[in-house]
Amino acid sequence: MGKLQGMFAVYAASPQPDDPLAALTVGTRPDPTVPDGWVRVSVKAASLNMHDLWTLRGVGIKPDQFPMILGCDGAGVLDDGTEVVLHSVIGAPSWSGDETLDPKRTLLTERHQGTFADTVVVPARNALPKPEGLSFAEGACMGTAWLTAYRMLFVKSELRPGQTILVQGSSGGVATALIQLGRAAGFRVWATGRSEEKRALASELGAHATFESGARLPERVDGVFETVGKATWSHSMKSLKPGGVIVVSGSTSGPDANAELQRLFFLQLRVVGSTMGTRDELADLLKFCAITGVRPKIGTELPMRQAEEGFKAMLAGETAGKIVFTH
Ligand SMILES: NC(=O)c1ccc[n+]([C@@H]2O[C@H](COP(=O)([O-])OP(=O)(O)OC[C@H]3O[C@@H](n4cnc5c(N)ncnc54)[C@H](OP(=O)(O)O)[C@@H]3O)[C@@H](O)[C@H]2O)c1
Repeated sequence: MGKLQGMFAVYAASPQPDDPLAALTVGTRPDPTVPDGWVRVSVKAASLNMHDLWTLRGVGIKPDQFPMILGCDGAGVLDDGTEVVLHSVIGAPSWSGDETLDPKRTLLTERHQGTFADTVVVPARNALPKPEGLSFAEGACMGTAWLTAYRMLFVKSELRPGQTILVQGSSGGVATALIQLGRAAGFRVWATGRSEEKRALASELGAHATFESGARLPERVDGVFETVGKATWSHSMKSLKPGGVIVVSGSTSGPDANAELQRLFFLQLRVVGSTMGTRDELADLLKFCAITGVRPKIGTELPMRQAEEGFKAMLAGETAGKIVFTH
């Protein structure tokens, strides 16, 4: 019997819709091969996203793709020593233009193996140089949660600095990114949070005012940023000025919200969907962080071998910014 080949990996063994942690496995997976035009990245840090819990539940991934290494963002080192931040949106080679609009695009962990491992392989264009001054742990927050927030705020919302935005949620990965980016860009930032502790975090990160979930606001806002869905949607619609915009990139509490159609047309509201971001937007986000000095709020940093602790915390809603696994 030869020595067992393979690398360390945190992976989803099979889809488990009702008990996602039952699918979570810390073990060994085959070493990846590197296709032409792709690069191997030695992973230094990767961060946890709600997407990883969806993957464990079998949402957004075909059953025949299991087992699947988790992790849809990361930072690491190429074989030639270059330090990189990863862009997780993998488009068809023939696609040009906005990768998020490519019908054949996938995120890492949907078809290609993810970053919670010794190494990950990605198309060469998906590995961007890591700016000096950004740690691997910080870089590992950029490719999914922070990129999503960047596109929502600066590409999709059509809002201007000086206007008032409401972020639904205070402690999540995308929510904290929205608060930090919005503040740094000159928006008046309001946030809702489910507990005093979470609202205090939002204030610490730059929110000008915070409110209990569902609370009546002192005045209506220009834009609302939604990842929560059913639990907050009506409040989001009621919080908007005439002509205001909701930018939505997630529905953690469920997708089947009351659409509030009468408000939508009488007040001429806009509802705009947003997903991830392009490679160019990630490059600009990295520059934004370098220029403004903004760094992602990392609430928990754990060795990747202890990934289960991070998953449990996210499942319980106990986040305080990004959960990062270092390796
Ligand atoms: N479309 C995309 O490209 C994209 C990219 C990234 C994320 N997402 C989606 O965005 C969502 C958030 O992802 P994440 O990684 O930021 O997750 P996360 O770190 O676990 O954050 C969850 C957030 O949702 C809030 N929340 C959850 N349930 C709630 C409820 N019942 N009532 C009020 N607030 C609630 C929490 O608010 P508190 O702070 O008050 O606890 C927290 O801010 C997920 O659904 C994810 O799939 C989509």
